[in-house]
Amino acid sequence: MEVRPTTTNNNILVVGAGAMGSQIAMTAALAGYATTVHDLSRTQLDDAAAALRKRTDKMVQSGKLAADDAEAAHARLQFSTDLEAVAPPADFVIEAATERLDIKREIFATLGHLTPRHAILATNSSTLGSSKVAEASGRPAQVCNMHFFNPALVMECVEVVQHPGTSQATVDTTMSLARSMGKSPVLINREVPGFIANRLMGAVQKEALALLAGGVASKDDIDATAKQALRHPMGPFELMDLVGLDVIDDIARATHAQTGDPADAPNEAVLALVREGKLGRKSGAGWYTYGH
Ligand SMILES: NC(=O)c1ccc[n+]([C@@H]2O[C@H](COP(=O)([O-])OP(=O)(O)OC[C@H]3O[C@@H](n4cnc5c(N)ncnc54)[C@H](O)[C@@H]3O)[C@@H](O)[C@H]2O)c1
Repeated sequence: MEVRPTTTNNNILVVGAGAMGSQIAMTAALAGYATTVHDLSRTQLDDAAAALRKRTDKMVQSGKLAADDAEAAHARLQFSTDLEAVAPPADFVIEAATERLDIKREIFATLGHLTPRHAILATNSSTLGSSKVAEASGRPAQVCNMHFFNPALVMECVEVVQHPGTSQATVDTTMSLARSMGKSPVLINREVPGFIANRLMGAVQKEALALLAGGVASKDDIDATAKQALRHPMGPFELMDLVGLDVIDDIARATHAQTGDPADAPNEAVLALVREGKLGRKSGAGWYTYGH
């Protein structure tokens, strides 16, 4: 029998305190939720706490956040390495752990045992559809993707993706939780690699790479066209450098492994830059060179 999830998700548990989990947790705490972040690594939790403090200090200094609200949000935020202690009170879990299926399956199986029966278990995975972890949880109807964008404190869009067994109540609760966190959720009716945003971005990137490889235009002119004719805030080559060319290559590999479509195969020009250690902004060079 399906258990109807509650609509009053007062206790949020975020699993994984990396780049995404830490900011998702802060977003929930700022929205008024008692929020706990769990990670296996104490260092990771301490780093996340320090980074979030810095981040909210900046928001206060720039007038984007009232000092009292920042303090209240930090008071609602807890950090723990002890999942057995923090899972039982959770009404809604957002898993943002390392992007590995074996790790996520184990987390969902554990959460299925430790969380209350009404709790919804969502994954923030960018490439793994929740159907891959749903059965492990023992409550597949209460599992979906809740995909935030980086940086999660800033980006408004959240892609909510249902797998074939996700219940309508789970979709409704997840959409309304995202809204209450100040986000603008979009619903994706079935699992497709890349969901919406990464598919759109991938299509533009693929075309940009083909235009460059065909000698049709320089990367600078392709970027200029995207910005000036289409009003994209960044050109596709600039965006690839920002995301990281190793990440772009990883995404292509994951997509290609799922679809088997030769059009999704990793791009040779991107791969050549990665092999040279040119990973984009973070390494000082990619398609462009950056002064550090
Ligand atoms: N980085 C992005 O731009 C981005 C954007 C959207 C979605 N995502 C997705 O978010 C998830 C996390 O990505 P990230 O960039 O924050 O990764 P990250 O590597 O920064 O953080 C992952 C964290 O998970 C922790 N972890 C690993 N195994 C764990 C376990 N069993 N229990 C608890 N914690 C565990 C690690 O210690 C680490 O702190 C991934 O699924 C990724 O696909 C990432």
